[in-house]
Amino acid sequence: MIKNFPGKRSKKIFEEEQKYISPGIQGIALYSKIALAKGKNAILEDEDGNRYIDFVSGIGVGSVGHCHPHYVKSLKAQIQKITYSSFTTKVRKDFLKLLSSLLPESLNRIQLFSGGAEAVEAAFRLAKSITKKFEFVSFWGGFHGKTGGVLGLLGDEFKKDLGPFMPGLYQASYAYCYRCPLKLKYPECGLACVEVLRKVIKLQSQQQIAAIIAEPVQGTAGNVVPPPEFLPAVQAVAKEFNALFISDEMQTGFGRTGSMWGFEADHLSPDILTLGKGIGGGFPLSAVASSFKNCSSKPFSNPSGSSSSYGGNPLAASAGLASLEIILKENCAQNSQELGELLLRRLKNFQEKFEFVGDVRGRGLMMGIEFVKSKKTKEPLSKEVCLKIFQECLKRGLLSMSYTYTFRLIPPLTILKKEALEAFDILEETFTALSKKGNYK
Ligand SMILES: Cc1ncc(COP(=O)(O)O)c(C=O)c1O
Repeated sequence: MIKNFPGKRSKKIFEEEQKYISPGIQGIALYSKIALAKGKNAILEDEDGNRYIDFVSGIGVGSVGHCHPHYVKSLKAQIQKITYSSFTTKVRKDFLKLLSSLLPESLNRIQLFSGGAEAVEAAFRLAKSITKKFEFVSFWGGFHGKTGGVLGLLGDEFKKDLGPFMPGLYQASYAYCYRCPLKLKYPECGLACVEVLRKVIKLQSQQQIAAIIAEPVQGTAGNVVPPPEFLPAVQAVAKEFNALFISDEMQTGFGRTGSMWGFEADHLSPDILTLGKGIGGGFPLSAVASSFKNCSSKPFSNPSGSSSSYGGNPLAASAGLASLEIILKENCAQNSQELGELLLRRLKNFQEKFEFVGDVRGRGLMMGIEFVKSKKTKEPLSKEVCLKIFQECLKRGLLSMSYTYTFRLIPPLTILKKEALEAFDILEETFTALSKKGNYK
């Protein structure tokens, strides 16, 4: 147990920074109040020398953990050669060649960007260029970034007071079966939510849908895994309306869900793929991939039509190449699948054991727990109790996203089995203590 939490040095640095940083920092940084000093793979150390197992990975960014020796060596070497410009560099060519070799032919042309929202906006420019249409459909619970062009896609109350949004954006219900908005039960529902999608397009839109965008597993919503027929049916609806299907894989790409790409599990064939987070192992890097034919559409393919100032700069390309080399060499997708299966079994055990563990789900190392006051009512656990769980885990040396009732577990793909199991022991100890007190209602 960490005593005097947060420690003296962390507290001092955090409080000093608060004088300069704008309010609105990421919840996890705000609630923990720790100042991080260093990291090694899945282990973080704060300024007071306290150790934490990282079950957050910078919200899915750190695919290869902290300061992997190959990553450090590659970036060090690159920074001594050339750091910026949008000219061709050998490192960018090598990165694109390797990435392209892992994608189907229909997705083997790639443009690089710096952030997720930027990539999704670029995917929309591409979809408009291909289809000459201008409307888009996303899903409740979906998250595709916070910039003006994509904020309206967000299926969450977060966007309240931030409108009006870009016109031509529509939303339908995702297959969030634990809390089905249609109050139906899978599989007897016959996927009624797909019919809602069809109706949204028919009744609300101009039927000028350029693309439907979906996450193979909804990350921000709480790592919601849809039933296997849902996304293929969504893709079929896209076809019905001559629209494209965009798989937004900021979180699910690069082995996170146990296969290299999230679209593989449900045998999807997206027309456009958006990638980010794990792609750069922590370096701001994102990408849009589609076929050569699609990417040749204008105006996307005009000179400077798809580029950006930082996208694919030599440092970013070096980070992408190093991360991908590690992901391949260390079989991260396989580790994610095997460890994910093992941990999901333990999550199921938690579900049986603790009244407040309402739902557990996951694919690979993208897992989720839904905290409830009672299994019967499914009423979400209060924010205060979730924050208590978060603090108790932190004191025991686990950095987790348990501060909200849709608790996501996303360790680095390179995490060692013994560290992952240690993290689960901490969770079990924390849950047992909460359960004994019985005051989680
Ligand atoms: C699926 C998905 N798309 C897009 C984004 C936006 O990425 P960024 O925060 O890099 O803009 C995120 C971020 O969490 C995401 O999960």
